[in-house]
Amino acid sequence: MTSHHPSAAITGLGSYLPPGRVTNEELAARLDTTDEWITTRTGIRSRHWASPGTSTSDLAVEAGHRALKSAGLELAPGSVDAVVLATTTPDHPCPATAPEVAARLGLGNVAAYDIAAVCSGFLYALATASAQIIAGQAERVLVIGAETYSTILNPADRTTSVIFGDGAGAVVLSATRDSGQDGVLLGVDLGSDGANRDLICIPGGGSRQRSQPADPAPEDQFFTMQGKKVFAAAVTRMGESSTALLERVGWEMGQVDHLVGHQANVRILKSLARQLGIPEERAVVNIDRVGNTSAASIPLALADAAAAGTLTAGSRVLLTAFGGGLTWGSVALTWPDIAPC
Ligand code: UT7
Repeated sequence: MTSHHPSAAITGLGSYLPPGRVTNEELAARLDTTDEWITTRTGIRSRHWASPGTSTSDLAVEAGHRALKSAGLELAPGSVDAVVLATTTPDHPCPATAPEVAARLGLGNVAAYDIAAVCSGFLYALATASAQIIAGQAERVLVIGAETYSTILNPADRTTSVIFGDGAGAVVLSATRDSGQDGVLLGVDLGSDGANRDLICIPGGGSRQRSQPADPAPEDQFFTMQGKKVFAAAVTRMGESSTALLERVGWEMGQVDHLVGHQANVRILKSLARQLGIPEERAVVNIDRVGNTSAASIPLALADAAAAGTLTAGSRVLLTAFGGGLTWGSVALTWPDIAPC
């Protein structure tokens, strides 16, 4: 099939986890929690946390490098036209982290910007990157999701400390004139509900707090989440978004071979599959080994499932995510014949 506008297709995939693996037992030794609670309530058995001195750009550079290698591209100017980094944990409040990542990868003076949509960030980044390609503004874009949540977790808060992990995943999106090519993003659905912004929030550090006359409280720099309310909204919003997207793309739910949902909680993934009428075993799960890695979650799950041979060329893949903002999004594609690095 040919069309007037180019389409955007995934042509490379890379991932990186920092070496420090933290087990539930290690957390139970210093927090009022147990391996049993964490495993049964979340499905998480271990996560990776970056060591002090390692920041989000360090993980993003590793994952970006691997995605470029997977796509057969050099670390050189001209390889990509833009770098988009989805993250909740930028190296600094200002400037964005993507320009540093582009520079360290040797990609030249390309367009580079961050996307802040918390756990939906990677799908928001895919949406903007693919829009640039479809509009003819870019031929190839490196899209990265990278997080170091260990730097924003309150070590005394058992409700968040046991859940979040660090990591990075990246894809190369490339223009193609063949809209039927495997890997082409067939459709995107995005949404938000800012009325519920308080459910997932770092209260301090921004202009809202800095505009107040009172001194900020130190704990306001930490990530907070109202888990139960977020759980319910996650299942509803990912369900609605997935349904709306598949209607537009023209797929039946039963045709979805792999549901790659944001890895927030294995119970959320199972409820979502049940609600959509997709058999549970079609839900990709790697949260047991990485925890909730927010913007890195979807590309890490893709890399894991692709490396395991679960995702095969031509299979129908539904990506869906939900997170702070609140934000959510879904993307549909048939899986490309690529080797993840
Ligand atoms: O990434 C963005 C999207 N994020 C999500 O979608 C996360 C969604 N939320 C969740 O996954 C779940 O709500 C959590 C895993 C965060 C919590 O699970 P829950 O089943 O909703 O538990 P809960 O918050 O209702 O707490 C149940 C009990 C409470 O004790 P009481 O009040 O019943 O005595 C908590 O204090 O479990 C307690 N609890 C813990 N106990 C042991 C909370 N955290 C822990 C813990 N260890 N780490």
